[in-house]
Amino acid sequence: MASTTFPEGFRFGTATASYQIEGGATEGGRTPSIWDTFSHTPGKTVNGDTGDVACDSYHRWQEDVDLLADLGVDSYRLSVAMPRVMPTDGGPVNEEGLDYYERVVDALLAKGITPTVTLYHWDLPQYLEDKGGWLNRETAYRLADYAGAVAKRLGDRVETYTTLNEPWCSAYLGYAGTEHAPGLGLGPGAFPAVHHLNLAHGLMAQAVRAEVGDASQLSVTLNLQFNRGDADAVHRLDLIGNRVWLDPMLRGYYPNELFAITRGICDWSFVKDGDLEQIRQPLDVLGINYYCTSLLAMSDRPQFPQSTAASTAPGASDVDWLPTPGDHTDMGWNIDPKGLYDLLMHVHNDYPEIPLMVTENGTAAAGGDHVTVNPDGTKAVHDPKRIDYLRRHFEAALRAIDDGVDLRVYFVWSMLDNFEWAFGYTKRFGIVYTDYETLERIPKDSYHWYRRLIADRAIPQE
Ligand code: BGC
Ligand code: BGC
Repeated sequence: MASTTFPEGFRFGTATASYQIEGGATEGGRTPSIWDTFSHTPGKTVNGDTGDVACDSYHRWQEDVDLLADLGVDSYRLSVAMPRVMPTDGGPVNEEGLDYYERVVDALLAKGITPTVTLYHWDLPQYLEDKGGWLNRETAYRLADYAGAVAKRLGDRVETYTTLNEPWCSAYLGYAGTEHAPGLGLGPGAFPAVHHLNLAHGLMAQAVRAEVGDASQLSVTLNLQFNRGDADAVHRLDLIGNRVWLDPMLRGYYPNELFAITRGICDWSFVKDGDLEQIRQPLDVLGINYYCTSLLAMSDRPQFPQSTAASTAPGASDVDWLPTPGDHTDMGWNIDPKGLYDLLMHVHNDYPEIPLMVTENGTAAAGGDHVTVNPDGTKAVHDPKRIDYLRRHFEAALRAIDDGVDLRVYFVWSMLDNFEWAFGYTKRFGIVYTDYETLERIPKDSYHWYRRLIADRAIPQE
């Protein structure tokens, strides 16, 4: 019979990211990131929403820490904003920026919550973009300087440092496509960004190690693609979406087949001697973000460049994305818990040496979330679809553990509703509701459900 109880030592958490929750965009010495520029450009985000205020966690962090403590999580995954820490090109480290994160980290530790810190969750300083951003090799070296500065200050108070969050999105949505900052729409012209992100990962990992040695864990977070359908198409997207990160980072090479399928659109001449040795660094754990799957077919009509989020990957111009069966979320993503199980098994089989964490999983539930005022004046948000989604994905994770996957921790995305990138504030992923008028936080039913799961270390049965 399948387990319903998590093994000893398994950890529960929730996750957020700096630009999505902090606000305080011009405070404490912070300067603009590519997301400030992008969101302030008319037409780029729904309703013209920006992260200027977001959840105001820059000021309300203590309240957020209290909510986390009450939830009972073992760990909290937050990200540090480079534009707070390195606000000017070539200028000094901004100690005031680091002070903010130090306060949050110490407040978490005081409540017995271990911090997991993502060093780069998409808020590249605009001054780096002005010099070419991820198309410029130099950016990788600037990210490493910054990573070292963060690790020097926060040290081993951070249990796990993650270099990058989802470089797939940075390169393919931001440089190949147009839906994320900086939104350049370069198609195959984005491959240099892919490589420079890989290089940044390796250099950042070394910079962190130089400060903390083995006292903290090192990782990276990838949104690995789990695709079904035509085998050829699936293989192609595995190369462009997954192995393009996993092989250099964990094995020290780009797969030859990747070069083969991108022949004619990319010569990879930006890969310099010695880069792959820099990129392959010993990692303690690999973070996987999982939401949904895709269904693929080979197409006979050339259709590059693609415009939809799922299909910007250059080199896949002969792949078709088919509608997925079953229920979908408010994002239009299919609900496929078995995909999580299959993906975890797949990564475990291909890279058995590295322990795994689910660094994000969650849902903007179809229909959205609505506040109910109880007769006694208290407020509630009933979100049965989110509870159902989480329950089924926790079950899938447990099944993978039963079948031998060394899965260490599970972070629910997200701790609270926040700035959902190009969708602005229209998509709610939180287990805590954010009232954007008053900035009040209202725990949803899913928060209470998760609290029980954590207390019992088992999936609630009714
Ligand atoms: C991979 C090739 C790669 C080579 C590098 C092989 O295992 O399949 O794609 O280029 O190793 O040594
Ligand atoms: C990102 C988050 C985002 C979430 C939901 C992930 O791609 O890391 O920042 O909010 O998915 O779209």
